[in-house]
Amino acid sequence: MTVSRARASANVALAKYWGKRHEGLNLPFTGSISVSLSGLETEASVALRPRQSGDTVRMNGQPASPREAERIGRFLDLVRDQARAAVRAEVDLQSNFPVAAGLASSASTFAALALAATHAFGLSLEARELSVLARRGSGSAARSIHGGFVEWMRGEASDGHDSFASQIAPAEHWPLGIVVAVTDEGQKKVGSREGMAIAVQQSPFFPAWVETHAADMDAIRSGIAERDLTRVGEAAEHNCLKMHAASLAARPALIYWTPATVAVIHRVRELRADGLEAYFTIDAGPQVKILCRAPDRSRVAEEIARVPGVRRLLLSAPGPGAEVLPPL
Ligand code: PMV
Repeated sequence: MTVSRARASANVALAKYWGKRHEGLNLPFTGSISVSLSGLETEASVALRPRQSGDTVRMNGQPASPREAERIGRFLDLVRDQARAAVRAEVDLQSNFPVAAGLASSASTFAALALAATHAFGLSLEARELSVLARRGSGSAARSIHGGFVEWMRGEASDGHDSFASQIAPAEHWPLGIVVAVTDEGQKKVGSREGMAIAVQQSPFFPAWVETHAADMDAIRSGIAERDLTRVGEAAEHNCLKMHAASLAARPALIYWTPATVAVIHRVRELRADGLEAYFTIDAGPQVKILCRAPDRSRVAEEIARVPGVRRLLLSAPGPGAEVLPPL
């Protein structure tokens, strides 16, 4: 039996997705803009197993936990619905970036799985439909369908058909330097699904986050078009700090930062004051992603490696979109 395989890169949001207007469909309150991360990839393989009564899922060589397997199974149901098929599948997911590093792999996982599973079930979807499908697995996965610089439109429709991502510019447009500083190797304490729900319902700052988001999107979009690191970096930092401010102000408070996270923030600001232009952004966890000019990446990495509490660094750059791989 043939196995369908696909690969997708992780991405980091410069203008973030934080808050769902519809939980089940992963419909966001705002649009978001990201850059695909080269070298941080997930490979998905899907084989149809007509004689199996349920799906089987392996993640990084181990059977998936019941919770993860159920999430993948529900996602495969969406593909089965579209294909009008009932057959179960054997799924293997392999991420090349350290899972123990607590870096979210859901974006690359669901983008790769959307592509491999539709291929396995004989569906051939346009990029827009693939993005809508990947979004159902994990919101940020809508963006990992594409390479380079990507915008996910909020959309207006209640069924979500207009909430998908498209590419703003390919990776070659702007070879930025990206450094990921891993400060904590443990698993996330509050995942993004739960964190967003708390921020939406329990933060008095959530409305301000939504209201001020479009201005950051505009600055980042135009800054990418003009390869203006200052404009993109300042807007991305501001957007990140607002996402965390809204989360910190929730009850219960969402505090994703550790002392090392804060130490990296300060170091990046010092580097900038000393003339090495770099900017930070942080998702729903303690790791810090740093943007800089491509030729400055190794210097930035050297400086950040010395910050107490930084455990390891991953070097990245704007990367490719999701692609089908040849059968093994
Ligand atoms: O795709 P999710 O549900 O894991 O949410 C991702 C949320 C952030 O990473 C914090 C922001 C973003 O836009 O990627």
